[in-house]
Amino acid sequence: MTEPILAGRGVVKRYGEVVALAGVDISIRPGEVIAIVGPSGSGKSTLLHVLAGILPADDGEVFLGTQAITRLTETERSKLRRTAFGFVFQSGMLVAELTAEENVALPLLLAGAPREKGIAAAREWLVRLGLGGLAGRRPGEVSGGQLQRMAIARALAHRPRVIFADEPTGALDTRTGEETITALLTVAQETNAAVVIVTHDESVARRAQRVIEMRDGRIAVRAAV
Ligand SMILES: Nc1ncnc2c1ncn2[C@@H]1O[C@H](COP(=O)(O)OP(=O)(O)O)[C@@H](O)[C@H]1O
Ligand SMILES: [Mg+2]
Repeated sequence: MTEPILAGRGVVKRYGEVVALAGVDISIRPGEVIAIVGPSGSGKSTLLHVLAGILPADDGEVFLGTQAITRLTETERSKLRRTAFGFVFQSGMLVAELTAEENVALPLLLAGAPREKGIAAAREWLVRLGLGGLAGRRPGEVSGGQLQRMAIARALAHRPRVIFADEPTGALDTRTGEETITALLTVAQETNAAVVIVTHDESVARRAQRVIEMRDGRIAVRAAV
């Protein structure tokens, strides 16, 4: 059996009195696509943020492969996020002042790539996502769907092992949302990246290999699709 690329064991997260995660166990295999669904406030975003090392857990462990990321310092987690993980959120995250190619190159430049190399790789990713003609546009100069594909190119450019997407289609119409998910899953599959998608959208959840339902900070249902 394949070892999980990412796993949470007994993960607890509180905000003051609010128990957002009440002991979550989850395993994600390399290249697997998982959707996390559930009512608003059930802990979906918190789970994603703790798995991604954005928020520290109060109890339990998160493993990337065999490495316990819950034991790393904030600086080490931050480095791990830049190298091993990619992020696609509902909106934002792209730098308004930078062009598409500069935005997509940013994670590569932060990881130490020379500018020329980063920009060249960014252009290739934009072409791959059907945005070859928009390399010089800024985020405010493209459509919502193009913006999300730009965000996908940026999330994938450094070849992360896991991509985290929180409501990636939340600001899009149904058709554009479906095209966006297709683009995300296609490039993720090509690079064998696992994908964890938090979504309200049934049509997005149907594209996952596994759907996990959250209720009150716990996993309520594990349905194989
Ligand atoms: N920064 C925060 N401060 C205090 N409470 C929070 C914060 N973020 C989330 N919560 C609470 O934690 C619970 C889980 O929230 P969240 O993970 O955002 O759920 P979901 O993404 O499923 O809507 C909710 O009760 C929410 O109100
Ligand atoms: Mg949320």
